[in-house]
Amino acid sequence: DGKFITLAVESSCDETSVAIMADGREILSNIISSQIDIHKQYGGVVPEIASRHHLENINHVTNQALSEAGCSFSDVDMIGVTKGPGLVGALLIGVAAAKSYAAALNLPLVGVHHILGHISANFIEHKDLEPPFTALVISGGHTYIAEMESYTSCRILGSTRDDAAGEAYDKVARVLGLGYPGGPLIDKIAKEGNPEAVHFKRVFLEKDSFDFSFSGIKTGVLNYVNTEKQAGREINVADVAASFQQAVLDVTVAKAVGAAELLKKDRLVLAGGVAANSKLRQMLSDECKKKGIKVYYPSPVLCTDNAAMIGCAAYYSYKAGNRDGLDMDAYADLPL
Ligand code: KG4
Ligand code: ZN
Repeated sequence: DGKFITLAVESSCDETSVAIMADGREILSNIISSQIDIHKQYGGVVPEIASRHHLENINHVTNQALSEAGCSFSDVDMIGVTKGPGLVGALLIGVAAAKSYAAALNLPLVGVHHILGHISANFIEHKDLEPPFTALVISGGHTYIAEMESYTSCRILGSTRDDAAGEAYDKVARVLGLGYPGGPLIDKIAKEGNPEAVHFKRVFLEKDSFDFSFSGIKTGVLNYVNTEKQAGREINVADVAASFQQAVLDVTVAKAVGAAELLKKDRLVLAGGVAANSKLRQMLSDECKKKGIKVYYPSPVLCTDNAAMIGCAAYYSYKAGNRDGLDMDAYADLPL
């Protein structure tokens, strides 16, 4: 009915996803085929296995996305795809699929940055939201505080110097024997624990820095667990999980709110897998309420990897005049 239809592909890590978007912000379908159950047994994502499963799934997921949206290939106006950053072998499957759809249908092709995708997830559910605003991007591979200047450009104020926040959650969950992926498991069990039971160091780095360091806290938890075990004491997993989470979030919330205040932006937008964390949402909402800052975050299914967010970002990139050729590559590292 005259709407601009984007078919978007995401394959940067362990989710094969294809979405059909109307006019950028409306989801007609968003199929996410997760490989979590396969990678679980290895305690993390195995890149080779991820690539193979993307390859096995991509056509099926595409057909399912089209049929759920009530579309056929001939209704599609543009192809969007994640071109990086991520696992390069995994990205290449999505990029190759997107290129072949664009070539066969003679449609424009737009490659997008995965992080712009995560931030754009917010445009889907918050119809009034538009740049500029301050963003906290917090996922398994990335931790950034940024200023979203327009739909297509983002200025980084700070990032992690070692582990990403989600990576810290996953590693600590492994130390505590909780399983993979650790974020949702820690989120859940921490609700039953005392966040003040164990003190873990809060690493703020230099004064006024918006950078993060999360690798120390993983060692802190490991040392605590080993010390307790050696002393023959039983550890309370819920208490340790709650204390770890409190330490990570105290720093994260303080820095994100500090950035929003510095930029004089009265809107703070959360994005990435860890943005699904219930305690983070609650702490940020409480803190921002005091400061008169409005907080936005996507519903959990749009926080973790999905193609709808990529379709939204691709739509705005297309509107800004960006196009990619069939020589487009996939990039393990890609600057914002
Ligand atoms: O955005 P995402 O799907 O992939 C990347 O681009 O990295 O994020 C996955 C990360 C994992 O580390 C996972 O443990 C974490 O997000 N995560 C959470 C929660 N849900 C997912 N971390 C904390 N609390 C959650 N509820
Ligand atoms: Zn992601």
